[in-house]
Order: sequence, then structure tokens, then C-alpha cells
Amino acid sequence: MSPVMQQQTKKRKGEHVEIVLNKDVQYLHGTGLDKVKFAHCALPHINLDRIQCRALFLGKRLELPFMITAATGGYQKAEKINRDLAAACQEKGIAFGLGSQRAMIEDPSLGKTYRVRDVAPDVFVCGNIGAYQLAQYYKAGEFAKVEAAMNRIDADALCIHLNALQEAIQPEGDRDWTGVPKAIEAACSRLSIPIIAKETGAGMDGQTAKALERMGVKAIDVSGSGGTSWSAVELERHLEQDRIAEFRDWGLPTSISIVECASQVKIPIIASGGIRSGLDAAKAMRLGATLAGAAYPFVKAQNSAGRAGVVSEISRWERSLKTAMFLTNSQNLEQLSKARLLVY
Ligand SMILES: Cc1cc2nc3c(=O)[nH]c(=O)nc-3n(C[C@H](O)[C@H](O)[C@H](O)COP(=O)(O)O)c2cc1C
Repeated sequence: MSPVMQQQTKKRKGEHVEIVLNKDVQYLHGTGLDKVKFAHCALPHINLDRIQCRALFLGKRLELPFMITAATGGYQKAEKINRDLAAACQEKGIAFGLGSQRAMIEDPSLGKTYRVRDVAPDVFVCGNIGAYQLAQYYKAGEFAKVEAAMNRIDADALCIHLNALQEAIQPEGDRDWTGVPKAIEAACSRLSIPIIAKETGAGMDGQTAKALERMGVKAIDVSGSGGTSWSAVELERHLEQDRIAEFRDWGLPTSISIVECASQVKIPIIASGGIRSGLDAAKAMRLGATLAGAAYPFVKAQNSAGRAGVVSEISRWERSLKTAMFLTNSQNLEQLSKARLLVY
């Protein structure tokens, strides 16, 4: 990898956080979860203070069924962001995803911007690499680089991100995805940790999820549309260029993605993409997800109030989830998954 390309990767990750925080790059259409209503239980007969939301995810017990999904790494400011996010996950007992580790594979000195294990000893930590990038390492016989990056952060799982929309919109984007499925399959059989396939905000349909399950993927993060739009981010980065702005809102809404995937696969589903509260999370779990996650609200909370801000946002989600459970008379997540639902 040339030094110019290394610089580009580092610069891009910094720009992404700045744009997400300062520009309007959320989807114009929602997740579809607003069309989903729980039947209100006017006569609950459980104790709100005794509601239990522990979840089991890929063999790990979580205190709450939430995950902060991949956001950053690979440039100086990312070090504090990742450490604040991960420390908050430790405090609240939820899962955590690091941003793409491409930067640290290209320049190992950037590894420290992903170092969180010391502040998150018990957290389910996910490493991250782009599917296209993975295919390049596979073709070059360099899977060992990916394994070394996972060992360096002591990852519990590897998220392989599928960001075809973003690559197609980026003028410098990666266009030849022909070897990608084979590389994912090879990673599933070679790596000792489970592989999670995640979208990055454009959603996933059931057939794709099924194909990924057959390849050996152990969980799916649908990352549907309705939250952060990666085509909007890329359109912001390339204002001066000939843009195909009609793809700003391309994608399968999160609600549909969850239902699609849940009907096709047996592996756990993470619902993300525009999940903004514990109530959204409750609806997502009722539709078939095991965990609910988000990136933007937690990056925003970290930016305004550091680790305490992230803890407080997770606590807000917790209160909101427990309120939804109380009002559907659900003592635990198993009962929530059967709560009566009305879809408009
Ligand atoms: C600043 C930022 C950077 C991101 N970087 C990555 C990344 O490196 N790898 C990845 O898999 N997803 C990345 N994502 C995508 C998120 O994990 C998530 O799938 C997507 O933003 C939708 O969730 P949201 O609406 O809660 O933001 C990033 C998201 C944000 C906000």
C-alpha cells in the first residue's frame, strides 16, 4: 500500500466523523418502525423495576441487548472516541464494534487508535474490515494480516462490512466486487473467531442474508436505511463533482430488512440503521432481532459529553426499552418477542 493511499484512508475516516456530526446526512425516509405499534397493555401485571433485559449473543451474556456499531479508528482523534465508547459499553454491559481496521493494517502505528481492551475487558468487541478489502487480502494470500489485526485488538468477532452503495458513490470507490463472496466464505472457514456480516446503512434482503449464512457467517447486522446515509456522506465529500444524487436515499428500510432476514436465516440478527431509542430497539426485537445497535447517536453523545454522555444515552435506551416492555406486560426479552404487534 503506497503512503499516499495510507494518508487517504486516514483522512477519509476523520472526514466521515466530521460530516456525520455536522451535516444533515440522515436518510430523508425513516426506518419504517413508526408504522409498527405494540398493542398497549392497559393492565400490566409485572413489576417495572424487576424487568430483565439480559441477552445472549454468540455465547456471550450481555446486560442489555444493545450494541454500539462500528464507527471509527485510524486517525488521532479516533483513539479517544473508541476508548470512550468502549468504556461506556463496559459500564453498561453491551457489545461494541470498532471502525474499519484497514488503516491499522496499512500502517500498524495506528493500532493504538483501536486499543480498547484495557478499558473494556468484559465487552464483546468486534473487529471490522470492508468486504472489498478482505477480498484484496484474500487474492494476495495475505489473510494473516487480517488475523493479526484481530489478535492485536483481542476481538471476539469480526464484522465484515458490505458497503457497495458507498463504494459506488465515491469517485475513488472500489468497483470490482467479483471476488468478494469467495473471500467471505474463506474468512469464515479460516478465522478462529465468528464472522458477522454487516451492511452500513443500506439494508439487507433475506436472500443475501441466506447466502451469507450458507457461507458460514454467524450473525447478520442488517444496518438498514432510515439512519445515517453513506451516500449522503459521500455526496457531501464530493460537492464539486458530477454527482448521482438520486441515490442519496437508496436502501431497504431497517424494519423491512429485519423481517426479510428473520424469515430466511436462523443465525442471530442485529438490527441497526436509524435505531434511535429503546422503543425502536423493542420493535426491532419483536420483528426478529436479537440485538439492536446504532452508531450515530453514540458518536454524537461522545462528541458532546465524552464517556459520560455515551453512558447516559445507553441508559436512556435502557429506560425506554423497559418502559416498552412494561407496557406490553413483557417480563423478559422472550416475552417481548411474542408481544402483540399492530402494523399499519
Ligand atoms: C462516523 C461513522 C463511521 C462509520 N464507519 C464504519 C466502519 O468503519 N465500518 C462499518 O462497518 N460501519 C461503519 N459505520 C456504519 C455504522 O456502523 C452503521 O451501520 C450505520 O451508520 C447505520 O447506523 P446509524 O443510523 O445508527 O448511524 C459508520 C457510521 C458512522 C456514523
